Amino acid sequence: MIEPVGQVWLDGKVVDAEDSRVGLLTHSLHYGFGALDGFRSYRQDGGGVAAFRLADHLARLRSSASAIGLELGHTHGDLVEGACDVLRTNGLDDAYVRPLVFVGEPNIIFAHWLNPVHVALVPFAWSGYSDRDADAGTTAQVSPYPRPKAHAALYNAKLTGNYLLSVIAFGHARSSGVQQAIFLDEDGFVCESTGENLFAVHGNLVSTPPATRSLLPGLTRATVLVLAAELGYEVAERDLTVPQLHDADEVFTTGTASGVLAIPELDGRRIGDGTAPVARALRQRYLDAARGRLPEHADWLTIL
Ligand SMILES: Cc1ncc(COP(=O)(O)O)c(C=O)c1O
Repeated sequence: MIEPVGQVWLDGKVVDAEDSRVGLLTHSLHYGFGALDGFRSYRQDGGGVAAFRLADHLARLRSSASAIGLELGHTHGDLVEGACDVLRTNGLDDAYVRPLVFVGEPNIIFAHWLNPVHVALVPFAWSGYSDRDADAGTTAQVSPYPRPKAHAALYNAKLTGNYLLSVIAFGHARSSGVQQAIFLDEDGFVCESTGENLFAVHGNLVSTPPATRSLLPGLTRATVLVLAAELGYEVAERDLTVPQLHDADEVFTTGTASGVLAIPELDGRRIGDGTAPVARALRQRYLDAARGRLPEHADWLTIL
């Protein structure tokens, strides 16, 4: 469960969350026409709090919005400052912030440009999913709903409308007694899970599908590609098929909200011996970077 906070950042100002309600004619609410992102802040081992890869998340927010013709109307510096302000004001340390770019009201015709564009930064306390055991990992199934191949470029952006299939596939997985769903595209190639990127481990090779597939090239994915290479693994972006996942030594997901999460069971089969040592090592190293234990990656941290 998410505990709502007292203050949010909306259109350039920190305001009471109570004053940030939107109207029923809000354009984005009707058509899923908007952009979003999600970044986390972490208590630092040496004291203080830092946001992880904040500049990259805010740059992705801007480019996602721009992919559908929306301009943010705030400088990068304003957004960085707003993000730090809203975390500090709410007294948060381990937290998640949801940036959202949405089209306001009252014109719910398709001419979205007749409405104002709003930008919000909504934080809440977060230490990971309470329904997923980070150590044990999670179960998954290949989703019966394929990602449309023709719209791969749209899926490369983080757009609100992209999540319709995610919500449906996630609900379908849960009603089948499985925790997570994995999308293929219409050619049968692996894309990602409903809200995370997917990796496979075969011996010393750690690989993930390329961004030419219908997927969001995540920042945790980018981080893990760097960390895996540093740990001595060969890394590759390459097409993966379902049999390659079933035959892998390990399968795991990466995402801001859940970090690195092993999938020891996929489609009812055990993957490798189910212990996922590579995913565990990467999960630990990722947390080390986020908590400020890796001086060589201090540039990923924005101290609040
Ligand atoms: C569809 C999808 N894929 C992948 C990711 C992982 O991206 P990141 O690591 O930047 O959080 C996310 C989360 O934002 C997502 O929603």
